[in-house]
Amino acid sequence: MKVQWDIETAEKGGFDHFMMKEIHEQPKAIRDTLSGRVKEGVVDLSQEVGLTPEQIKGIEKIHFVACGTAYHAGLIGKYVMEDLARIPVECDVASEYRYRNPIITDKTLVVVVSQSGETADTLAALREAKSQGARVIAITNVVGSSVAREADDVIITWAGPEIAVASTKAYTSQLIAIYLLSLYFAQVRGPKAVSELSEIVSHLLELPAKAEAVLKQEAQIAQFARGIATSEHLFFLGRGMDYAVALEGSLKLKEISYIHSEAYAAGELKHGTLALIEENIPVVALATQHAVYEKMVSNIQEVKARGAKVLGIAVEGNHELQKTVDEVIHIPKTIDLLAPVLTVIPLQLFAYYACVERGYDVDKPRNLAKSVTVE
Ligand code: AGP
Repeated sequence: MKVQWDIETAEKGGFDHFMMKEIHEQPKAIRDTLSGRVKEGVVDLSQEVGLTPEQIKGIEKIHFVACGTAYHAGLIGKYVMEDLARIPVECDVASEYRYRNPIITDKTLVVVVSQSGETADTLAALREAKSQGARVIAITNVVGSSVAREADDVIITWAGPEIAVASTKAYTSQLIAIYLLSLYFAQVRGPKAVSELSEIVSHLLELPAKAEAVLKQEAQIAQFARGIATSEHLFFLGRGMDYAVALEGSLKLKEISYIHSEAYAAGELKHGTLALIEENIPVVALATQHAVYEKMVSNIQEVKARGAKVLGIAVEGNHELQKTVDEVIHIPKTIDLLAPVLTVIPLQLFAYYACVERGYDVDKPRNLAKSVTVE
C-alpha cells in the first residue's frame, strides 16, 4: 500500500533498510556521543562516573564484559585502556565470564557493554561482578535499561534507536565511549602527558567528518561485495587492533549474508589457516596499524601467492598496498589508536551489499533477535 510504503520509507530515512540508515547515522552518533564530554581538550565524565581521582588511581584491573559486537568493542577497549591508562585489562564474552569464576577484588572495575542493556548473559555478568564487590560501569545505548539501572555508573552512547539486528552505529558509539573513559582515566593516572592526551582528543573530535568521508566510497565497496556474493568462505585478516576490527567485520558478514567467514590474527596464518587458502578465496586484509604494517603486507603476500583475491583496507596516502592486493579501500588519515572507528565502516557496507546481492533480509536475519534476553 502506498501509505504504508511512505511510512516505512520515512522510518528508514529514505534508505532501503534500517541497517543502511544506521550506517549513515554514524557520523552523527559519534558526534552526539562526544558532545558535552570534552571541554577545551580535556575529557570530563565526572557527571557519569562517580569515581574520585583516588579511586581511579586505585583501580588495579579492568574487565570488559559483553556479547557479540559489544564484545568486539571491548576488545578494542583492551588495547586502548592499556595503551593510554596502563591499567591491565581482560576482555570476556559474558556467557563465559559468568561461569569461569573470575578473580574480582574491590580494586577491579568491570565495564559491561550492551547496546540494548537487556542481554541476559551481560546482565548476569554484571550481577556476578557486583556480588563479588567490583565497581561496575555500564556502556549502553538505552537509558533506563536493566544494565543502566543496576550498574554503579552509566555512560550512555547517544546513537539513537538501533533497529537493524546487525549492530553498526552502536558499535562505533561504544568505541567512542571507551576512548573517552580511557582518556578520562589516563588524565588522572598518567603516564602520558596532558598535552599528548589533548592531542588525541583533537583527533577524536575529527572522527565524525572522517566517518562521512569513508561513506563516500560506498560504490567501490559495493562492487567488491557483489563480486564475492557467491563465495562460500571468506577470511578477514588483521594485526593488533585491526584483528579486533576484523572479528567485527566477520560477524557482520556472517549474520546477514550467511557467508561463512573467519577473522584471524594474520600472524596465525602459518599455524593452520594457510591450509584453507586456495585459488580465488576472498580475503579482506586490514592494514592500518603502522607498527605491524610490513608484517601485514608479508601475510597478504602469503595468501596472494596461494591464489587469494584480496581487498585491502589502508590509510589514505598509502600507495604501496595496491601493488600487493586486488582492490584497496582507503580510510582517512588518523592516529592508529582511533583507526578502528573508521576501518569498521567499509566492513559494515561490505556485509550489507553482500547480503543484498544474495537477496536475504538485511534488517531481520534468520534465527537472530535484536536483543538476546534469554540465555
Ligand atoms: C551484533 O550485530 C549482533 N546483533 C549481536 O552480536 C549483538 O551485538 C549482541 O547480541 C549483543 O547485544 P547488546 O549489545 O544489546 O548486548
